[in-house]
Order: sequence, then structure tokens, then C-alpha cells
Amino acid sequence: EKGGYDHFMLKEIYEQPDAIKDTFRGRMLVDQGLIKMAGIDDHIDKFLNARRILIVACGTSWHAGLVAEYIFEELARVPVEVEYASEFRYRNPVIYEDDILVAISQSGETADTMAAIKLAKENGAFVFGVCNVVGSSISRLSDAGAYTHAGPEIGVASTKAFTTQITVLTLIALQLAKKKGKISTSDFHTYLAELETIPAKVEKALQSNDHILQIANIYKNAQNCLYLGRGFNFPVALEGALKLKEISYIHAEGYPAAEMKHGPIALIDEQMPVVVIATKKGHYEKVVSNIQEIKSRSGKIIGIVTEGDKDVKNMADHVIEVPETIEFMTPLLTTIPLQLLSYHIAVLLDKNVDQPRNLAKSVTVE
Ligand code: F6R
Repeated sequence: EKGGYDHFMLKEIYEQPDAIKDTFRGRMLVDQGLIKMAGIDDHIDKFLNARRILIVACGTSWHAGLVAEYIFEELARVPVEVEYASEFRYRNPVIYEDDILVAISQSGETADTMAAIKLAKENGAFVFGVCNVVGSSISRLSDAGAYTHAGPEIGVASTKAFTTQITVLTLIALQLAKKKGKISTSDFHTYLAELETIPAKVEKALQSNDHILQIANIYKNAQNCLYLGRGFNFPVALEGALKLKEISYIHAEGYPAAEMKHGPIALIDEQMPVVVIATKKGHYEKVVSNIQEIKSRSGKIIGIVTEGDKDVKNMADHVIEVPETIEFMTPLLTTIPLQLLSYHIAVLLDKNVDQPRNLAKSVTVE
């Protein structure tokens, strides 16, 4: 049932090229330059007239929501707020009738996310669900939605659900950008064609597995680990840190790279591995100077870089390459090495990767 893999988590990491393909198949018609998504197209006026998009979710799904915030605002120029469902539901939030609440949930059963939906509905907002489990409670509670087609995710640590959530949300952002006239037809076509290449690029990123295992061996006994990223890859840093915490029980924190100097840089010493997402374009020069700051304090750098990178390679202790892509699609690639890094560290530490202590696959209690 694990298809020859030692753990479900590893199987699910390797399923991502197909899971992403399955998620855009039938929705993205590259030759015709079209996106077809019934959940959006049938309610397009709601989306075009929306005052704001409020995204609610928990955990990894919340990280996908943060990536979506950056992509929606960049492409569709619509204001987006992202909140932990548990905070949103208990803080008497301002919700307008012309808001759209997007609830993201792999299981479709998360109690806090369900409660946030109920609150939004009571206030007259339109609710759009992004779920993986067909027929789940959240998919039924929503006014409309789009499923991720990741297939069953068994490992407690979410992997392919995250990348397929980002895929669905990217399709939605592109469709809204087009319908709102915020991007040119030629850019729209370029983006569709690029998204179609992502599964092959994920495949390529997976080929760093052996190299990542070696890096895992070096850092498996770390007590702490920092993850840094900027822009579209700031949420990926948060997700990388969450993956390491939950399956290896090593304390890890994700930060926007520029926030280092406002506090966390005090933690840096020769014991501290710092994973830095430093792909080309995404504020590359700024990230490079953040790396210099860490190096001058003897921190150990594991850089996630674009293929062929030279500058970071010269400074970092290790680099892991991912193929080049359009900036807003980089999270679909930079996530992959972080998943593998946490997987290998957890296995080397002999932890129960698929069922980490204290965690449940779906959190149906608040
Ligand atoms: C982390 C993880 C959790 C879930 C969170 C939300 O790997 O799996 O953080 O992402 O419990 O679950 P869903 O998406 O089912 O609402």
C-alpha cells in the first residue's frame, strides 16, 4: 500500500508531480488559453464584485493561504486577508456581505475552519471551499468550491495537499486576474504554459533526494533550526519549519528573511543551521545580504537556490537546486527539498514519520 516506499509521507512527496497534474487537468486548457473552473465561473459576478477575499485555514493549509494571498494580490489586485480559523472565529471579525471567505482544508473536517465558515455565512458572505476529501463537511458547508485532486493523504504531515492547494489557488488567481482584466492575454498564456511544466520541474527537484539525505545526516542532531524566505517564499519558510517540528521534534522557526535583524539573529552561532530560500528574482540580492549577515556570525547555511546559481553557492555551506520558474510559482518547487529534508532527519532520528506523537490527521475538536 506504500507502493514500495518506506513511509506514506515519502510516497506522497513523490506523488506530487502527478497530484499537481491531476489538479490542473481539465481545468487548464493551455492550447485554448483557457481556465475552466465551475466553482469560479458559475459565481464569477460574486468574485468580480467582492470587496475582499478572506482566507481561513489551520496549519499547513494556512501556509497555502498565505502563499495565495501573495499570488491573488499580485495577479488579481484584490485585497486578501489570511487568518488562522481559530483566531478569526473568536475575535468578532468584521465580515461584509460582499466578502468572499475561502476556506482551505485537506480533510474538510477541521473544527475551527468549519466554525469560521458558519460565522461568515451568518454575516452573509459567500463561502468557497478548497478541500481534498470529496464530500467532506467543509465541502458540503461551502456555497461553491474547487477540490484539490491530491488523492488520499495518509501521512499526518501534509505534503501533496499543500502543493495541490497552491495549484488550485493559482488557477483561481489567474482566472480572476484575466476576468478582471488585470493581466494581458499574452501573460495569461505564458503563465498557463509555465504551470503545465511544473510537474516535470517538481520531478527534477525530487532528484536532489540523495544530496538532501547527506545534508540531513550532517544536521540531524541540531537542537534548533531557522528557515528564512521572502515574498512568495516567506510562507514556504514557515511550512518548512512546521514540517521539521512535527516529524523530527526539532525546534524550528520560519521567518521573513528581513526580520532576522529584528531579533532572531541573536540566536545565530556555529550550532545553528539556517535554511534560506534564495531563488533568483525573489528579492535575490536582499536574501544574499541576509546570508552574509548569518555567515559573519558563523551560522550554517543551507541554501535553496535556482539551478546554476553562483552567488549563494559561494557563501553557503550547502545548496540544493530547484529548476527556474516564474517567481509566483517558485513555492511549488522550493517546498519539495524542505519536505525531503525534514523527512530524512526524522527517519535518521528514528521517529514515527507517518504518525508523529500528539498529532492527529484531522483535528475535529477545537
Ligand atoms: C501539518 C498538518 C496540519 C494541517 C491542519 C489543517 O502537516 O497536517 O497542520 O494542515 O491541521 O488540516 P486541514 O487541512 O485538514 O484542515
